[in-house]
Amino acid sequence: MIFDRDLLKDKVILITGGGTGLGFEMAQAFGSLGAKLALVGRRQEVLDRARAVLGQGNIPVWTRSLDIRDAAKVDTAVDDIFSHYGRLDVLVNNAAGNFISPTERLSPRAVDAVVNIVLHGTFYCTLAAGKRWIDRGHPGTVLNITTTYAWTGSGYVVPSAVAKAGVLALTRSLAVEWAPHHIRQVAIAPGPFPTEGAWSRLMPTEELATEAGQRVPWGRVGRPEELTTLAAYLISDAADYINGEVITIDGGEWLKGAGMFNALERLSPEDWDKIRAMMPKKP
Ligand code: HXC
Ligand code: NAP
Repeated sequence: MIFDRDLLKDKVILITGGGTGLGFEMAQAFGSLGAKLALVGRRQEVLDRARAVLGQGNIPVWTRSLDIRDAAKVDTAVDDIFSHYGRLDVLVNNAAGNFISPTERLSPRAVDAVVNIVLHGTFYCTLAAGKRWIDRGHPGTVLNITTTYAWTGSGYVVPSAVAKAGVLALTRSLAVEWAPHHIRQVAIAPGPFPTEGAWSRLMPTEELATEAGQRVPWGRVGRPEELTTLAAYLISDAADYINGEVITIDGGEWLKGAGMFNALERLSPEDWDKIRAMMPKKP
């Protein structure tokens, strides 16, 4: 870690989906910087494992088995965090559901499963934290973990794309509406970071996994500590003036996909010589 050990000292941070993958990486990083944690996810055994690991570093951890699609239970959980720690400073909306599928194969329940976790669940958590911050006159920070295809869209992950686009709109909307209450909104749009949850559903074959790395101009996939370093900065008081911004961390992946001529990387020097010779000459 590049920060002082007390960067997040005594901040109470709720991380949804904090027992696995990038959520757990953030939990470890924030805990090592002095934060007190509240972790939620559906599987209690996963949360128990996370608590055991974090406990070895004497990091305070509160956990609750929670499906964030249930707004009433989200509300109760946030209440209980306030009772347990006496405060909440940061909400990290990290929980997500996703899988690759041709859109025409999706059932309505499949659409709902993803959109209700990513968009509705994120909204319920934000609302539960935000209204308590506003009632108490307490400042707060919301960090949303979104994706780069929130603004480009993407085939084969369409429920996730529309839901993450909604989260992007939520980030920018509340950045303005809740700024007078000193509630900041920030977001991170990661490119590919290998996690068991994402890889098993989005890159289920070796070929797809290899391609994921090859699409990145920087030549590799992301490292967890690169994301956690950015996240720690964004939720810290040092980033107090950053509000409504989404930071992309993807080695340039989305730009490569977006540029109209990027696929020309397949041409050899000889191909380019031929193309040059075919161009119109000076009149
Ligand atoms: C088509 C599918 C499907 C699939 C499930 N369904 N998987 N349809 N293809 N692969 C359908 C089911 O048949 C069912 O519809 C409906 O979806 C709900 O399925 P359940 O299993 O009952 O849903 P649930 O238990 O709520 O699980 C939600 C889930 C699951 C999203 C389907 O994958 C999950 O729990 N995911 C959580 C973790 C996760 O997804 N992590 C990855 C995040 S990565 P019917 O009609 O049959 O009842 C990420 C990265 C983005 O977001 C960018 C990467 C670079
Ligand atoms: P992950 O390990 O599968 O994380 C998803 C987490 O969300 C799990 O802990 C899961 O726990 C929890 N979750 C899912 N549905 C939930 C629900 N209904 N209620 C409560 N918790 C729920 O995958 P990850 O790769 O770390 O993803 C973390 C975040 O990064 C996501 O927002 C994802 O979209 C984003 N992201 C990841 C990548 C990548 O390459 N990894 C790229 C771009 C964006 P339970 O199953 O126990 O509920």
